[in-house]
Amino acid sequence: MIDIHNHIIPGIDDGAQTLDDSLALLKIAEQQGITHMVCTPHMHAGRFENTVDTIRPAFESLKQALAESDLIIKVAMAAEVRISDEFMIQLKRDKVPFIGRWDDQTVVLLEMPHDRIPMGIENLLKWLQRQNIKAIIAHPERNKEIMRKPDVARTLVKHGVLFQLTAASVSGNFGEGAQRTAQWFLENNLATFVASDAHNIKNRPPAMKDAYEVIEKQYGKPLAEKLCFLNPGKLTEGLF
Ligand SMILES: [Fe+2]
Repeated sequence: MIDIHNHIIPGIDDGAQTLDDSLALLKIAEQQGITHMVCTPHMHAGRFENTVDTIRPAFESLKQALAESDLIIKVAMAAEVRISDEFMIQLKRDKVPFIGRWDDQTVVLLEMPHDRIPMGIENLLKWLQRQNIKAIIAHPERNKEIMRKPDVARTLVKHGVLFQLTAASVSGNFGEGAQRTAQWFLENNLATFVASDAHNIKNRPPAMKDAYEVIEKQYGKPLAEKLCFLNPGKLTEGLF
């Protein structure tokens, strides 16, 4: 499987803190059947002041440690970008690492606030479309507004967004509400990716196997393959 969303780069957000943490997470990922990971630390103004300038050196140190280990998993670098005014400025300054390409568009992984769909998101998405940038919305099934009324997610689909579900939501580890909403995305054929959003070994490990099995059982193997292998592979082809 190919995991396109996780926080395993050490010391730059609320994920892994040390290289040892990172390697332990990578080991679990391998055991889960993950062969490729795109590392996506938070870029969140006021909380995690990351740009490509902080992410790249931390990623390089992880890559070095991985090369010296006996793990065979492959890693690449992107970011999970919180929607904010800074985002547009940073994008213009080439400070945002992209997560791949999709149908001839460059793709960015975006995070909404957890309690609502932010005002002005439609204008932002239109602006991105004019720059030929496609947005993946991270874990829409954990957004309170979408959990209450999943249909509001369709307003974002109009602007060409793709949705990434968190594996733990699909398998029920994020609670009933997130699982029910994840099911809504799956039933309505609106999910494009499943990813771990791993932060640490204890509560949020890089697990995708359970989600794969749930999808396989409920919707069939082709959809599980599509969300965990084929679509992430198509997106990140140029990164590895
Ligand atoms: Fe995340």
